[in-house]
Amino acid sequence: MLYKKEVTITRLIKPAFLLGLIILMASYSSPAQKIDPDSQTETSIDSLLNLMTIEEKIGMIHASSSFTSGGVERLGIPELVMSDGPHGVRDEHGRDWAPDNASDDFVTYLPTGITLASTWNKELGYKFGAVLGSEAKARGKDIILGPGVNIIRTPLNGRNFEYMSEDPYLTSQMAVGYIHGVQDQDISACVKHFVANNQETDRDKVNVVVSERALREIYLPAFKASVVEGKVNSVMGAYNKLRGQYCAHNQYLVNNILKTEYQFPGILISDWAAVHDTWEALVFGTDIEMGTDLTMMPDADYNKFFLADSALAMIKRGEVDEKYVNDKVRRILRVMYKTKMFSGRTQGERNTKEHQQVARKVAEEGMVLLQNNEFLPLSTKLYKTIAVIGHNASRKHATEGGSSQVKALYEITPLEGITNQVGTNAKITYAEGYKPSRDNSVDKKLAREALEMAAGADVVIFVGGWIHNFDLSVWGKDAYDAEGIDKSNLKLMYGQEDLINEIAKVNPNLVVVIMGGSNVEMANWMGNVKAILQAWYPGMEGGNALANILFGKVSPSGKLPMTFANSHTDYPAHAIGEYPGIDLQEKYKDGIFVGYRYFEKEMITTLFPFGYGLSYTNFAFTDIDVKKEGDHVVVACTITNNGKMEGAEVAQLYIHAINPRIERPLKELKGFEKVWMKPGQSKRVSFSLDKQSFSYFGEVELGWKLDPGSYEIQIGNSSADIRLKETIVL
Ligand code: BGC
Repeated sequence: MLYKKEVTITRLIKPAFLLGLIILMASYSSPAQKIDPDSQTETSIDSLLNLMTIEEKIGMIHASSSFTSGGVERLGIPELVMSDGPHGVRDEHGRDWAPDNASDDFVTYLPTGITLASTWNKELGYKFGAVLGSEAKARGKDIILGPGVNIIRTPLNGRNFEYMSEDPYLTSQMAVGYIHGVQDQDISACVKHFVANNQETDRDKVNVVVSERALREIYLPAFKASVVEGKVNSVMGAYNKLRGQYCAHNQYLVNNILKTEYQFPGILISDWAAVHDTWEALVFGTDIEMGTDLTMMPDADYNKFFLADSALAMIKRGEVDEKYVNDKVRRILRVMYKTKMFSGRTQGERNTKEHQQVARKVAEEGMVLLQNNEFLPLSTKLYKTIAVIGHNASRKHATEGGSSQVKALYEITPLEGITNQVGTNAKITYAEGYKPSRDNSVDKKLAREALEMAAGADVVIFVGGWIHNFDLSVWGKDAYDAEGIDKSNLKLMYGQEDLINEIAKVNPNLVVVIMGGSNVEMANWMGNVKAILQAWYPGMEGGNALANILFGKVSPSGKLPMTFANSHTDYPAHAIGEYPGIDLQEKYKDGIFVGYRYFEKEMITTLFPFGYGLSYTNFAFTDIDVKKEGDHVVVACTITNNGKMEGAEVAQLYIHAINPRIERPLKELKGFEKVWMKPGQSKRVSFSLDKQSFSYFGEVELGWKLDPGSYEIQIGNSSADIRLKETIVL
């Protein structure tokens, strides 16, 4: 049966009145809780809790359908309605798992998380979140299950496309904007997956053993920022274990760090089926249990969840104090009040032109130009026959990848985008060239056709890379950017490498566009092609955005949020790792040296460094100014567009500790600003660094430490291209 939120809203009119009365009465009773500044809300929650039976409270802390947790109809407390996912509101399921194909659930399909992070544009993070929040509201949802902020530790992770970066600061900044965007619409964001869910292999079993320093400096910052700066309403507990205990009920992570240190007032929702024990879930901080295996069965019995009947029995037997349940229900009610679930929530909007423009803008700013031998942008004055080659040129990706799947209102493929752009100014031809196949075999006929077409064209645009189909039985293990599975390596599949090299022989005017959630190996072919553009999964407007970049309507401005190394074996998780774990134990031996922190330390040559991305114009960095203001360090510099085209540059600020007392990364990103400039225009950008920017986490002191000494402030347009430096003594 189709579940419709509208029904709940109507049902709420009377109870909303009742709640108003409770608020009024309660304002004369008990004092407010400390955790929430809104004392009136806390008082009304107290009153509501007093009216509830233990059975009703228990009903609220576990799932009541595939994507809802229970309400209390008698008191006008609605169910909480959740939906995936990070880049669009998921298709409608009703209350079970069967897609409801008949319903009107088409939405804006935004570019995936890694594309958003590649924009390095915090404002776009906000706009992205606002689209999601508004569309979730229009679809009757209360919580959108995103952003995904797990650190990209290995390029093989099947869900990297949903995540943001190898760097905790970039991830934090983009996540905070996203969360504000969602929550300003009175919809809750749910930052996930807390924590160290950095691979899909054995994700529900693997025990991650990580040093306290790496946990604090690399894996936790985005969650902390989401809570402290983003004021996120909910957090999703990950599947894996951390130091021997499942993350969704991990005393240290949830109670000590999240709820006590970070003072998180919201809801810890388990990932779907991530709860394993009633007592632990009751006492170690899980607030809502979702998705426990039963939901996969047609007659899911939600009373069998860990936080259902067995929890009730434990409370009744006096084995666990009811205060634990009260705290969970309090948190849920707090979020319900905050997101106006009882009254006053406005209508959302869906599939508007503005939303589609945000999708296009993120795609345009997120694509990263990796190589350009003075070839792009293309001109239809020069090239009259354009051959578009590759399966990904005509493939749609929205409905793929696992839980983040989206039913896009439309999805402009690269071929459609290029065709729209070129119009009658040139002739477009298309050949598929290669095709995903289960056994990774090469379709020689397709390759032959493509080569013939390439030979007869003035220029070739090859669009290849990964797909993210979820159906193991069809595509075989290696085809994926998908939930539940990691890739085995970064090699281009289905003969794409050979095809690129063969095309280059018959037509050297070759541009390669790579789609996917992380990088591919390029060493065997990059020298033979004129230009390479990383397009990720660019959402419903991806094809138009791609064409705007290829034909120079827009100058590329994306920067890599992860290092592109030669092969996956170069990454620290693999080189010293122990990815994917030994007997389900995985020691993160790479410690804090993840991504560029590792490549720089070990002086390993990469294909393209973190923060890298070319433009059609060029920028000068001048006039660095560093000064202390109170307990902050204020840094400024000037950026000038010296080229002939409007474009954007990202000023990236890294800190380098000179002669540190303990080993530190050679550089750490601590600030970035993206600025758009017309030709000849200059802009001053400034950064304010606080103590935290210079601190590390001391394993001995178990706290953040700022050592006195000299620090170099470095500003550049990639981690490997530092243009300005100045030393400051603290
Ligand atoms: C995923 C979550 C997702 C949930 C609900 C889980 O398998 O890990 O990210 O939100 O399913 O679909």
